[in-house]
Amino acid sequence: MTILHIDSSITGEQSASRAISKAVVDQLHGAAPDAQVVHRDLVAEPLPHLTLDAFADSSVVEEFLAADTVVIGAPMYNFTLPTQLKAWLDRILVAGKTFRYTEAGPEGLAGGKRVIIALARGGYYNAGSPASALEHLETYLTGVFGFIGIRPEFVAADGLNLGAEQRESSVKQALGETVRLAA
Ligand SMILES: Cc1cc2nc3c(=O)[nH]c(=O)nc-3n(C[C@H](O)[C@H](O)[C@H](O)COP(=O)(O)O)c2cc1C
Repeated sequence: MTILHIDSSITGEQSASRAISKAVVDQLHGAAPDAQVVHRDLVAEPLPHLTLDAFADSSVVEEFLAADTVVIGAPMYNFTLPTQLKAWLDRILVAGKTFRYTEAGPEGLAGGKRVIIALARGGYYNAGSPASALEHLETYLTGVFGFIGIRPEFVAADGLNLGAEQRESSVKQALGETVRLAA
């Protein structure tokens, strides 16, 4: 079994999404000690913006396809995902590898893989709240992975910019949820 661990937060040691994604990986690895863990830090080693030339290199999508489980740390920046994570997704959505167009419409080809996403957001974006229209992180990732045949599982720490106490309890609650995810 191979676990691909992706991080995209720019905040280093302070990062909530990194702490939560690591907790998920640690739980999964604890339950399957023989698993191989591949860590791709998109901030330490960023992928360039997509260009046509970049399609010649399929190493990123092959690494994704080879993984049984993918754990992604995804912070919200400016209501959506970090550009570093977008550059990675730009290499994952590849016609003929992770999806194809059929007469009946697009078909996802990457099903059968588990994708767990650790979200970290400064505010709250609950359905029906005034801010919900600005939620382009969880909704986007749900749509993109759905397009390639995967229903991602989310663990979220929210309200992280609403005070130290709120941040601490939100991260603690998300870390607790990682136990359930790995069970
Ligand atoms: C550059 C930047 C932009 C941000 N934009 C938003 C935003 O649009 N909405 C929000 O709820 N939080 C926003 N935040 C707060 C982050 O989502 C929050 O700090 C979270 O902890 C980031 O994840 P991380 O700790 O893994 O870096 C922003 C933070 C940064 C650094």
